Amino acid sequence: MTDLLRDNLDKETITKAYARWAPVYDLVFGAVFERGRQAAVEAAERIGGCILEVGVGTGISLPDYSRANRIYGVDISEPMLLKARERVAELDLTNVEGLWVMDAEHLAFPDESFDVVVAQYVVTTVPNPEATLDEFARVLKPGGEIVLVSRVGAETGLRRALEKWFAPAARKLGWRTEFSWQRYVRWAGGIEGMRVAERRAMPPLGHFALIRFTKLGVPPPRRVGQPLVRAAG
Ligand SMILES: C[S@@+](CC[C@H](N)C(=O)[O-])C[C@H]1O[C@@H](n2cnc3c(N)ncnc32)[C@H](O)[C@@H]1O
Repeated sequence: MTDLLRDNLDKETITKAYARWAPVYDLVFGAVFERGRQAAVEAAERIGGCILEVGVGTGISLPDYSRANRIYGVDISEPMLLKARERVAELDLTNVEGLWVMDAEHLAFPDESFDVVVAQYVVTTVPNPEATLDEFARVLKPGGEIVLVSRVGAETGLRRALEKWFAPAARKLGWRTEFSWQRYVRWAGGIEGMRVAERRAMPPLGHFALIRFTKLGVPPPRRVGQPLVRAAG
């Protein structure tokens, strides 16, 4: 088996896994990932405007965004999104423009639609992380930022050995334990105008990081009454 195949997580495994997680997700992963989510929202709001949250899940971070920003959410899991829709209705989150079932690797939005693309605990759960990041770069406006909270695998030592050992079980749960920092750096290096702007360790135990990428260029002017982003089809 090649490294590529061994590294693979297929969409069926992921959708099945998150259909099982949906009823208990907030209980299990609410508090443990809270600091990372807050750091991502703070980073996104420094830019503000139209914010796309990919892998929005149960919409757990949606109430944290300022009402001044317009939030668009997508996720591959209908049961997770159902929870997000309930949350939006219950909390009357009028700044949430829409929640769509959509594959992060094939976003149905035009090029340069968003000021910020946020993905918390998502990039290492998708089958093709680099292709997914390419989509984020495509829909991002020049001057915008991609804000991730994502796993960064250990390069050496006991943690690396444990991550390798746990990897097959983790895949069945819908995520990867091994994902090197070099993969993020290599990806950014392959996209014209994309720069790594920040890497900040996040709990639990620094296994995750807040990662910001900046797309160089001048953002288009924001006009009053400008039509909001529309998803195709
Ligand atoms: C670990 S959860 C993170 C949820 C949320 N962002 C949070 O902070 O708790 C990963 C989410 O990514 C979604 N996901 C996985 N693969 C996806 C894909 N290819 N396209 C869109 N969403 C995906 C899952 O359905 C799940 O809701």
